[in-house]
Amino acid sequence: MWVEITALNRVPEWGILTVQVEGISLILNRQGMNVTCYRNACTHLEYPIDMGKVRNGIITCPFHKFQYKLDTGKCLNAPASALQSYPVKIEGDRIFVESN
Ligand code: FES
Repeated sequence: MWVEITALNRVPEWGILTVQVEGISLILNRQGMNVTCYRNACTHLEYPIDMGKVRNGIITCPFHKFQYKLDTGKCLNAPASALQSYPVKIEGDRIFVESN
């Protein structure tokens, strides 16, 4: 089911916006018109990562410094793991995320 989340311009360019969808904390990232969405949970101990620093399209978990590419969700420290991603679609200036 697609859920309307927010307007495109509410997501800071190259930054993240934390949102709640059906009780789940998610982060949105925008790089131009490319928007990605992940569960707000580090793959290490599942702690939230939204307080982490974002730089050059990479977010660093504030707890033990795992780093993730925000365009793919891939973890740079443990290449086999990645943030749990959610499909995103953009209609006009609105962002939708598909939740289960
Ligand atoms: S919980 Fe994120 S690196 Fe440990």
